[in-house]
Amino acid sequence: MRQEMRAYLDAPIDRHGTNCEKWDQLERYYGRGDLLAMWVADMDFRTVPQVREALVRRADHAIYGYTDDSLREREAEKGWLERRHGLKVETDWILYSPGVVDSIFFCVEALTGPEDAVLVQPPVYGPFFRAAELFGRRLVTSPLIHTGDTWLMDFDDLEKKFADGVRLMILCSPHNPVGRVWTRDELQRLVDLAARYGAVIVSDEIHADFTFDGHRQTRILALDGAAERCIMLTSATKSFNLAGLRQSSVIAPNPDLRKAVSEALTRAHATSPNIFGSIAQTVAYTCGDEWMDAVVEYVKENRDYTVAFLRERLPDIGCAPQEGTYLTWLDCSGLGLSHEAVMALLTDRAHVALNSGLFFGEEGRGWFRMNLATPRANVIKTLDCITNAIRSR
Ligand SMILES: Cc1ncc(COP(=O)(O)O)c(C=O)c1O
Repeated sequence: MRQEMRAYLDAPIDRHGTNCEKWDQLERYYGRGDLLAMWVADMDFRTVPQVREALVRRADHAIYGYTDDSLREREAEKGWLERRHGLKVETDWILYSPGVVDSIFFCVEALTGPEDAVLVQPPVYGPFFRAAELFGRRLVTSPLIHTGDTWLMDFDDLEKKFADGVRLMILCSPHNPVGRVWTRDELQRLVDLAARYGAVIVSDEIHADFTFDGHRQTRILALDGAAERCIMLTSATKSFNLAGLRQSSVIAPNPDLRKAVSEALTRAHATSPNIFGSIAQTVAYTCGDEWMDAVVEYVKENRDYTVAFLRERLPDIGCAPQEGTYLTWLDCSGLGLSHEAVMALLTDRAHVALNSGLFFGEEGRGWFRMNLATPRANVIKTLDCITNAIRSR
């Protein structure tokens, strides 16, 4: 990474008072505002400089009327997917949607009926559970298996659940919070199962640009038989720190599935992009390669620092190096405290805000998620504060 890039990422940027959930909502979620915010999955890095310049230029025009749903951001996304992931998609497979969570909701609403079973693999990103509950669908879980140093899909259990009539599976790939980058074989097995039992897979690939150590993201649509029954959800917002701009894509090669989701988007009047989101996506996907490479390298260094620190100084906290995502998943069950006591220790004694594992389902009890997309100084301080809090308890 170039020295200027490192300085850009190292720079401490105060986000307080910027309508920012991560730093401005601490009081509301943790009961105190004086915490080091290592929770919400956005980054404390400034985005690609050319994105900022394009937004400033557009803001300067001072007329922000209704936006056309242009092809520019789709073409830019197609270029990114082909260049970075070796995946070719057609322009008309791509639908605009305001956010990936919104897209999950639209897919569940459009592709399942009342009482249909929707499958998720906990511990997993909280809104996945809500998607089934919101529309009165039957929530079916197939928990991941924790082997000690990694997490695996339970294929026997998955097959039973598919055979029992699962209509739609929400897949997290790479997986938040366990940090797995699913292998091609694992994903192909999953697609084959869905094909055998007539289910649809909605693959949330919002973290796909963050993979480390040669773990390569296999895009679901690259698999045999996937085009017919898989929908891929993507967004530049996680990769380039644009979440407040609300922009994402639903990529569905199967025209019937695409039509159903498109109708759900239209019913909700969610088809008109935000002008700034659209510009940001286009520029990020066109000019963001060097920035992205640097951020991935920087996050990997934060991860390596964290893993080495915990192994040496706090071995009671388990931390396997995540293969993907900028989120690290800490096993605090070895501290000999209840989940609630660890939460209180982190908040009231260490003064750090981590996500409670319970946000990811009951399977997350004893676990906490820490966000590593932040200047190194914050990672160092967080780990020091946790160490001091544990030693002085
Ligand atoms: C797996 C996953 N999906 C979706 C989202 C949110 O996506 P959006 O802001 O586009 O709704 C997140 C954010 O943390 C996430 O981790």
